[in-house]
Amino acid sequence: MKKKTSEMTERVAIILAAGVSSRMNTRLPKVLHEVCGRPMLAYVLDACRRAGVAKMYVVVGYGAEQVRQRFGDAGDIVWVQQQEQKGTAHAVLCCKEYLKDFDGETLVLCGDGPLIRVETLETLIEKHRAGRSAVTLATAVLDDPCGYGRISRDVYGNIQGIVEDGDCTAEQRAIKEVNPSYYLFNNGILFEALDNIRPDNVKKEYYLTDALSLILATGRKVVAVTAVRPEEAMGVNSREQLSVASKIMQRRIQQELMDHGVTIVDPDNTWIDARAQIGQDTVIEPFTYIHGVVKIGQSCRVGPFAYLRDGTVLKDDVVLGVFAEVKNSTLADGVRVRHHSYIGDAAVGENVNIGAGSITANFDGEKVSRTNIGDDSYIGSGAILIAPLDLKDGSHVSAGSVVSQESIDELGQGG
Ligand code: UD1
Ligand code: CA
Repeated sequence: MKKKTSEMTERVAIILAAGVSSRMNTRLPKVLHEVCGRPMLAYVLDACRRAGVAKMYVVVGYGAEQVRQRFGDAGDIVWVQQQEQKGTAHAVLCCKEYLKDFDGETLVLCGDGPLIRVETLETLIEKHRAGRSAVTLATAVLDDPCGYGRISRDVYGNIQGIVEDGDCTAEQRAIKEVNPSYYLFNNGILFEALDNIRPDNVKKEYYLTDALSLILATGRKVVAVTAVRPEEAMGVNSREQLSVASKIMQRRIQQELMDHGVTIVDPDNTWIDARAQIGQDTVIEPFTYIHGVVKIGQSCRVGPFAYLRDGTVLKDDVVLGVFAEVKNSTLADGVRVRHHSYIGDAAVGENVNIGAGSITANFDGEKVSRTNIGDDSYIGSGAILIAPLDLKDGSHVSAGSVVSQESIDELGQGG
């Protein structure tokens, strides 16, 4: 028989996301809470994809339909229902009908860990391969390990098992090495162990963490590698932790942008969505808030106090100044919107100048309409452009005008 090499080993992931999350005090399923504009679960799915996972089995329960809808029909996701939340081992067991005959490796991760990094998953996979173990888990060392399962090791440093916070002795409680729930199992061994887990603990739940000592008891190899950065270990269980995770994610997003040549004048007073793209030599001034899918080109100047919303595209050399709000609009090269404007559902041509306080009135109470402003147009201060509106190239709108398509057609000119 030809031996399978690790490179050929198929890998799937089970992502646990069925919990009710009482500590969040929320009606929204926990994994849909957003971190820098994306639901927590999206980060976990992405990390798996980037680590070469072909299929993700996402266990959902509370608000299952809502979670499913949010992610649509991604071809690599299999939604698995856990009717009653009886613990993390029970959640994994819900995937049995899909995976009982699977002869590869199964990553098990939690949906409430948005700070997961693909590098950590790669280390986990590599160590698993090198160690030829039945299970490999990645651990973290925390100054404050409170709330997490503790890694129990023998005098030689070999892992003996995981003790949940609520089940720790005083001595175990002092252990700083914790379980962030990053596991890689040989699939067959995982499901064999799950059958033997009993809810003998303070919470009366089926703990996935018990699988490790059970697997060790069968004489198989379990390896724990300290590979998770403290910040990354965080599972979001409360609104406070959600805000901390958001802050950490925000730092990562800004760091990456800065590495790509974007100037962020005051990182602490700037908020940029995970989905935003920003080009080289663009300067983001303080108190700028970028939310949604936003694309900013090169050498733009944005802010201070600018608000960019979903669907905004700024091409190159655009200046967007103080209290300018832009939504679902494209501003072509060289556009200037320096002060106090609202641009919504518009296409603004090259080198257009929009004066202070001018706005697009895009909503008539019933529907939203579009505004097109041709290249090289000049919009004076305090103009109200009533959509739907089409201003041809080189239009000149005087300060204080109220412009509708009707008024232009009457004039028989483009503005
Ligand atoms: C779990 C681990 C703990 C670890 C911590 C890391 C167990 C028993 N404990 O604890 O060792 O330090 O994560 O963050 O595994 N879930 C389900 N179905 C259930 C129960 C939970 O899908 O029946 C999901 C939750 O939605 C959540 C994840 O599993 O995404 C973890 O559950 P949670 O209750 O948050 O576990 P912790 O107490 O944080
Ligand atoms: Ca948790």
